[in-house]
Amino acid sequence: MAYGNIFLRLLFLLIFFHALVQSDEEGHIKVDISNKGLDFLKDMLIEEAESSFVPLELPEIEKSVKIPVVGKVKIVLSNITIQRVHVINSTVKTGDTGIVISVYGGSANLSMNWKYSYSTWLLPITISDEGSATVEVEGMEIGLTLSLKTLQGSLKLSVLECGCYVKAISIDLDGGESWLYQGVVGAFEGKISSAVEDAMSKKIKDGIVNLASLLESLPKEVPITDIAALNVTFIGDPELTETELDLEINGLFSAKNDDVVSNHYHRMLGASSSCNTEDRMVRISLHEDVLKSASSVYFEAGKMHWIIDEVPDQSLLNTTEWRFIVPQLYKMYPNDNIILNMSVSSPPIIEIRKQQIHATIPIDMVVDVLSADEVISVACISMSISASISAEISRNGLTGSIKLDDFTMSLKWSKIGYLHMLLIETVISSMLKTVLVPYVNLQLWKGFHLPSFHGYKLGNAQIFCSDSWIFVCSDLASNEQF
Ligand SMILES: *[C@@H]1O[C@H](CO)[C@@H](O)[C@H](O)[C@H]1NC(C)=O
Ligand SMILES: *[C@@H]1O[C@H](CO)[C@@H](O)[C@H](O)[C@H]1NC(C)=O
Ligand SMILES: *[C@@H]1O[C@H](CO)[C@@H](O)[C@H](O)[C@H]1NC(C)=O
Ligand SMILES: *[C@@H]1O[C@H](CO)[C@@H](O)[C@H](O)[C@H]1NC(C)=O
Ligand SMILES: *[C@@H]1O[C@H](CO)[C@@H](O)[C@H](O)[C@H]1NC(C)=O
Ligand SMILES: *[C@@H]1O[C@H](CO)[C@@H](O)[C@H](O)[C@H]1NC(C)=O
Repeated sequence: MAYGNIFLRLLFLLIFFHALVQSDEEGHIKVDISNKGLDFLKDMLIEEAESSFVPLELPEIEKSVKIPVVGKVKIVLSNITIQRVHVINSTVKTGDTGIVISVYGGSANLSMNWKYSYSTWLLPITISDEGSATVEVEGMEIGLTLSLKTLQGSLKLSVLECGCYVKAISIDLDGGESWLYQGVVGAFEGKISSAVEDAMSKKIKDGIVNLASLLESLPKEVPITDIAALNVTFIGDPELTETELDLEINGLFSAKNDDVVSNHYHRMLGASSSCNTEDRMVRISLHEDVLKSASSVYFEAGKMHWIIDEVPDQSLLNTTEWRFIVPQLYKMYPNDNIILNMSVSSPPIIEIRKQQIHATIPIDMVVDVLSADEVISVACISMSISASISAEISRNGLTGSIKLDDFTMSLKWSKIGYLHMLLIETVISSMLKTVLVPYVNLQLWKGFHLPSFHGYKLGNAQIFCSDSWIFVCSDLASNEQF
């Protein structure tokens, strides 16, 4: 009964699979991140950098400066700290060279202490003073080129180039005389600029190393339920084009800690997209083999069976109700309760077609009679249920509806003689249509809440199905925006 539910549940877990995800191997899940999506990720990265880079301490700078009239003065700048970094304008581009992030309008505020001392032959004592200063860095430019490759199924991020260039700084001393001001500005502008440039470049490289080890430590298998795990091994190097970054993962289900599901799945090439990525941040493409592997795992694990002993109209599960349709059953077991033992007899056939998911589920239904505290199996009926599921993403999350396309049944065995299958089929078919389908649709209509990831979730999402593929095109949005 809950079959459609299981599938949609798996589906929604999959489509929100968050992993930022060349051989002749094939990936069954593809994640294409558009320029808009890369922009979003870049902004997230920069925002993170702005807050985690500071306070950043720079090494002390010391210099002897010749000041007219005064003479030679030793000036020391210490406790130089970048207090704030702010980026106004930045871009991200993908291409043959890698992922290029450029920051144009960067600014930074620094605080520091200054100190000087000098002695002249005119005076027998050493004169010194100290105070603090603030520095504003304007028009900071940063260029960062990253390479993203796949190594043994994990993503490997590395820095190809990283440079920081400070265009202009302005120094503001608290206290001090005007000669000092001139001395500091003239002698230290260049040194402070290059100290900022060096410190920023190093910090960025360190940041990327941290991010890279985070990516490398992503698991290759993600448990979805207690029996099934999704293989999230990356396949082939990420493809970088001018318009998007494409990642492929294996994407097949296997039984947890066991690989009983063999690799007999073969993806058809040429997934055509029904939604274009330009106006959405990501497009996730799921091949139908993903659903097939999931269904296979559940089938092999013997999870596809259920007992029906309760229905809205309980009298249906009583031999009395069936006395006209199966008189011999009533004769042998008058007024007894019935339970139905349903099990899926072979892995369901799943096909993704235009705008819908089509499933054919073969089921064996054993009719058990509860007579005098004994369970007696009296007959087994083989059924085949064909249904179409159409999925949609709305405010409620992932929703959908199911439609019964076809239903056939035949008698497998019977201990109560001949059964009038046509009559039984009519009754069961109407039960399916009036009880099961509305029940499943009500559950589907309520929707499955899409989980959020680190405060972000899918927004503005659309789902499409076409030959063998499901596409989800979506933006990412922070939770507060909903
Ligand atoms: C160094 O700068 C920080 C931040 O401005 C300040 O809190 C600290 O007191 C300074 N240390 C010294 C020794 O001046
Ligand atoms: C950002 O900087 C680039 C390069 O200088 C420039 O072309 C673009 O117009 C700037 N964008 C904004 C919003 O300032
Ligand atoms: C940083 O400098 C800007 C001017 O560029 C100024 O408006 C801002 O208040 C400064 N921020 C801090 C934290 O000092
Ligand atoms: C996961 O996928 C990778 C790449 O396709 C494959 O080499 C590996 O054997 C798979 N793991 C399991 C448990 O199936
Ligand atoms: C169904 O069978 C039970 C025997 O367990 C009997 O007590 C009951 O009256 C029957 N109910 C109906 C509605 O016929
Ligand atoms: C239901 O059927 C399966 C096999 O078809 C059997 O293993 C199981 O014991 C049955 N359960 C009940 C409650 O009859």
